[in-house]
Amino acid sequence: MAIERTLILCKPDAVSRGLVGEITARIERRGYVISAMRLMQLDGERAREHYAEHRGKAFFDGLVGFITSGPLVAMAVEGEGAIDGCRQLIGATDPLAAAPGSIRGDLAQTIGRNLVHGSDGPGSAERELKLFFEDKDFVSRRHDLERWIKE
Ligand code: RTP
Ligand code: MG
Repeated sequence: MAIERTLILCKPDAVSRGLVGEITARIERRGYVISAMRLMQLDGERAREHYAEHRGKAFFDGLVGFITSGPLVAMAVEGEGAIDGCRQLIGATDPLAAAPGSIRGDLAQTIGRNLVHGSDGPGSAERELKLFFEDKDFVSRRHDLERWIKE
């Protein structure tokens, strides 16, 4: 295992419902650190690129419409095994299948309004982070991570 960096989005439903603090608190309590963060509204082009793997699926247009419908909060999150760890915190895609204790299991009802995005592997994390952040946007949080990790 190694220190990983992943892209987390608090989707427009999370911003609209005032759940950005709740979501970031859960990520921080796990010991992961935020190394870049921005509030923004996605345009269609970037949204289609972000969700390119789902192009052609029945839910694609609705997904792009939703993710561009209002402001979202994008974060780079770092920690030991942070990619899978954040997916675990977020829970299964369908909130009805998500474990209680996970963000979706506790706070969401439907697959189309499931609050959070987390990159699903190292390749997608790298690709997605580049869509939202430039190198200069990242700050070093290594010292803060050391409070949580014995390598
Ligand atoms: P995300 O990418 O947003 O973190 O979610 P995920 O990995 O858990 O799920 P993924 O399969 O990548 O799907 C992306 C988003 O598309 C919506 N979706 N709708 N109606 C459907 O069958 C369906 N399947 C997926 C969800 O909002 C999901 O988060
Ligand atoms: Mg996904």
